Amino acid sequence: MMRLKMMRRVSAVILACLLFLPLWVQAEETVCLQCHAGLEERLSAPVGQWRGSIHAQNGISCHDCHGGDPTDFEMAMSPERGFIGVPEYIEVPEFCGRCHLGVKEDYLASAHGKALELWGPQCVVCHGNHAVEKATIDLINPDSCSRCHEYERAAQVKQIISATEATLVELEASVADLHRVGFDMQRLREDLFSQRNSFRRLFHTVAPERIKKQTAEFDAGLATTREQIEDYEDSVEKRKIAGGAVVVLLLLGGCVALLIKRTFHDEEG
Ligand code: HEC
Ligand code: HEC
Ligand code: HEC
Ligand code: HEC
Ligand code: HEC
Repeated sequence: MMRLKMMRRVSAVILACLLFLPLWVQAEETVCLQCHAGLEERLSAPVGQWRGSIHAQNGISCHDCHGGDPTDFEMAMSPERGFIGVPEYIEVPEFCGRCHLGVKEDYLASAHGKALELWGPQCVVCHGNHAVEKATIDLINPDSCSRCHEYERAAQVKQIISATEATLVELEASVADLHRVGFDMQRLREDLFSQRNSFRRLFHTVAPERIKKQTAEFDAGLATTREQIEDYEDSVEKRKIAGGAVVVLLLLGGCVALLIKRTFHDEEG
């Protein structure tokens, strides 16, 4: 009895650890976070905004963007420890582009990138700085895209990429369903993931003709992926039919056995 209680308690603790482990890894408390959380508004606001961001979810913290030493209170913001401070408006693409290389490349070659020194938008204008969220085509909206020019241009780009975006979402859901019923979907998942990343990067060219052409190429690639997914789905159907057939056979077998038993009984009695 005691042992059972003990075991329950131990497993509850293990379960709690497993449940909170991801949170704990995510919210690793650096000296940057500890000190900044208690400072005046301008310096503490980034902490709260960052906590809900896609960067926080992926373990990218203050020092990954701003540099510095996250383990040393005294020297945290010393340039000798790699602190690079806050970028100027036109430095932002290089600042974010250290990690998002492909996007940076497309962006710098685009009409937006070329207008950077005049009135072109940079990364933070569209994504924000600390509260960066997962990117979707909802970022293309009248609020964000009619500040500098007519929304019409933005709407045109959005219209070109919408259908392909919807296909991607649909295929991702199918792959997740197949994984759930026990198929090894590793390869297809990686394939979709890389198609998704290259596709979402394309937006940054903001060149309607180029986006139209390349979107057609993505559609062709996705059609191949769809065929492979459909093959899996067919075999799920076949499995169901085969499963059904086994049940019917078992039932039939049961009936036959019962009949034989009855006949045997009748003959005996
Ligand atoms: C002991 C407290 C403390 C620690 C630790 C600390 N900061 Fe700061 N931070 C400050 C104060 C105070 C300011 C405002 C005065 C200044 O710029 O020196 C500031 C300013 C900043 C700024 C804005 C600078 C500007 O030019 O406006 C950034 C960015 C920043 N800190 C990032 C970090 C990062 C990244 C870390 C960890 C590697 C960190 N801080 C650690 C107290 C701290
Ligand atoms: C994804 C990269 C990224 C991360 C992570 C990040 N910052 Fe920043 N931060 C920036 C950029 C870019 C700016 C410049 C702001 C702008 O142009 O809007 C900035 C500006 C700042 C400023 C100056 C704000 C002002 O109004 O003058 C402070 C202070 C700061 N960051 C602190 C932090 C702290 C503290 C953290 C961790 C909680 C953090 N940052 C995490 C990118 C980042
Ligand atoms: C004019 C607005 C705008 C600017 C400027 C901009 N982005 Fe984006 N970004 C978007 C939109 C919209 C999407 C989503 C596109 C989609 O879903 O097809 C996106 C997608 C992304 C993605 C996801 C793509 C992927 O590969 O997963 C990343 C990362 C990203 N942007 C980073 C950046 C960086 C870094 C910069 C600066 C060099 C930047 N963005 C400049 C609007 C912008
Ligand atoms: C130290 C590396 C690093 C820096 C610097 C950085 N990021 Fe990221 N960013 C990441 C990682 C890692 C992810 C999560 C994995 C992914 O989705 O690519 C991410 C994700 C994103 C996403 C979501 C992508 C998606 O799939 O939807 C956007 C948008 C983004 N970052 C924009 C920015 C912007 C804007 C800046 C500059 C203010 C910036 N990043 C600076 C590493 C970085
Ligand atoms: C900070 C100002 C600013 C914002 C915000 C902005 N743009 Fe632009 N956009 C420009 C500039 C500057 C140009 C290039 C000069 C021109 O063509 O007028 C441009 C050009 C374009 C073009 C034409 C490119 C070409 O090669 O024909 C498209 C498409 C476009 N933007 C889409 C968007 C979308 C989508 C958004 C919102 C996610 C957006 N813009 C937000 C300033 C901005």
